[in-house]
Amino acid sequence: MKIKPLFLSLAMAGMCSQAMANAVDQNSYANLDDVVTTHLSLDLDVDFDDKQLEGFVEHTLKWNNSKSKTLVLDTRDLDIDKVMYQTQTGSWHKAKFTLANRDDVKGSKLTIEFKSQAKIVRIYYNSRPEASGLQWLTPTQTASKTHPFMYSQSQAIHARSWLPVQDTPAMRVTYSARITTPKDIRAVMSADNKDVLYKDGDYHFEMPQAISPYLIAIGAGNLEFKAMSHQTGIFAEPEILEASVAEFNDTQAMIDKTNAMYGDYAWGRYDLLMLPPSFPFGGMENPRLSFITPTVVAGDKSLVNLIAHELAHSWSGNLVTNATWEDLWLNEGFTSYVENRIMEEVFGRDRAVMEQALDAAGLRAQLKTIDAPDTRLNLKLNGRDPDDAFSSVPYTKGQLFLIYLENKFGRDKFDPFVKTYFDEFAFKSLTTAQFVTYIEANLINRYPGIVSMDKVNEWIFEPGLPTDAPNPTSDAFDKVDTATTAWLQGAKTAAQLPIANWTVHEWLHFLNNLPRDLSIEKMTELDDEFNLTQSTNAERAFAWYMLAVGNGYQPIYPALDAHLSGIGRRKLIVPLYKSLITNGKKDWAQSVYLKARPGYHPLAQGTIDALFE
Ligand code: BES
Ligand code: ZN
Repeated sequence: MKIKPLFLSLAMAGMCSQAMANAVDQNSYANLDDVVTTHLSLDLDVDFDDKQLEGFVEHTLKWNNSKSKTLVLDTRDLDIDKVMYQTQTGSWHKAKFTLANRDDVKGSKLTIEFKSQAKIVRIYYNSRPEASGLQWLTPTQTASKTHPFMYSQSQAIHARSWLPVQDTPAMRVTYSARITTPKDIRAVMSADNKDVLYKDGDYHFEMPQAISPYLIAIGAGNLEFKAMSHQTGIFAEPEILEASVAEFNDTQAMIDKTNAMYGDYAWGRYDLLMLPPSFPFGGMENPRLSFITPTVVAGDKSLVNLIAHELAHSWSGNLVTNATWEDLWLNEGFTSYVENRIMEEVFGRDRAVMEQALDAAGLRAQLKTIDAPDTRLNLKLNGRDPDDAFSSVPYTKGQLFLIYLENKFGRDKFDPFVKTYFDEFAFKSLTTAQFVTYIEANLINRYPGIVSMDKVNEWIFEPGLPTDAPNPTSDAFDKVDTATTAWLQGAKTAAQLPIANWTVHEWLHFLNNLPRDLSIEKMTELDDEFNLTQSTNAERAFAWYMLAVGNGYQPIYPALDAHLSGIGRRKLIVPLYKSLITNGKKDWAQSVYLKARPGYHPLAQGTIDALFE
């Protein structure tokens, strides 16, 4: 589909026309030039027995082309039962529809034809158990072991697997929903959740603010709620509710600090939904209700930058949205930057810089493994599924670009620029080209002689990192390095390492930088001293297992089996499977995977299946 120039104000501001060029969302069939949905009304039953959502969705339509009578929607693996439409004068009719053959990436184009331009179209359908955007968990896969659980993950192009929709971030809808479930199950959505406090299996939701379809989300399970502050609270299975509240009770402080820096939070409440450990991501910024992996509940708040990240999306992503998935860095780069600013405000500069340095080191390592064209901020998908181009480039290269600008212009100039950008594009979607036009007028040319447009273009359109990219360093990490060298050279024992005041960040820096040819004696010394194989912090355990697999250290295998079987977060398992395969442990990895696979989300299954092919 084509994306129309969205911002006449840009043209009026006299900006160059290059950024006004239409962009193409190659991942959607939607014919936005003809017609757009302005509101969705869902009526769905959550059927755990058949692992399906079943019911109907109504689209309220706005016609852009007076000649068109056709609505094209995205679907994947949906059964479409019947399509009805209401004419402008109020009568209901049956509509003709065709569901095209399934494209591996985009799914099946659903073409609906009307006799006259419909006001509302109602589609009766059901999702299938294999829906790429849903996970259906049996009771044994949950914390409670007593109730089933289901949740959606629509980003990037999975909303279409549970909802026939114009599945492109270039457009926005408001929505309302009625969701029915078994009586002892509570459903929640990325919407106003106040109706769910009374558990009766029949819930109503309202999302009065326009959001892109990838942000429509649902979860259902044995959920309880506990408030953390007037504006924030947590939905979780009772078994993990208290620990989650204790871990994340800085959420209100994070909101308050972000309001002060970037303008008021636009969405009313901000709640968290704790998902089962099989959630393939760390978090997902579903508006008003971020979805969160339980693997960040470490007991010491060491991984709460994840909450800062998902919260930051309330400005960059949910309010100001990438127009296509090639512009993902506009969501994730800005969010990684804002996330770190929030961490600095709430936890101090030292911690924020450690997190920058860890991420930058991760990026530099990953850059060596990615094809050069995919190391550009403005991605070229060339027909691929956005999931297949996923990497830390849009995140950390994007963040480093913004840190670069912050360093050059100073916060006194850069912070107002970011705030004004969020104001200007609030509730809109923009392409990278539009961003380039905006930054040229509002930062680069406004303060001439500081950063050139060539430099901006290098960051955004060229592969790799510019030679003058920021290289965040941390004093705390320098001390870790000194101690590590002494230990490696035998001048210190493991017991003499200054770990007493190490945070998880220092541990991660330590483990990530140890050589992959350590002797078994050295590995054993570390494990005996610090019990790393039994680490309860999922990130620290991951870093140790990566080191141990690289070094052929055997005693981890039972614990690694438990890690891989118990967690579905791709970031914490995929690199381990890869490393096991390249380090001669393919058979062992495959036997673990065979056992773990049924518990993984369809997205994680897809990624790991490909590794064993
Ligand atoms: N929006 C992303 C998750 C995502 C991105 C899903 C692209 C599908 C396609 C979410 O905000 C995210 O970035 N999560 C990270 C958090 C981390 C960077 C703190 C994750 O899951 O690891
Ligand atoms: Zn994100």
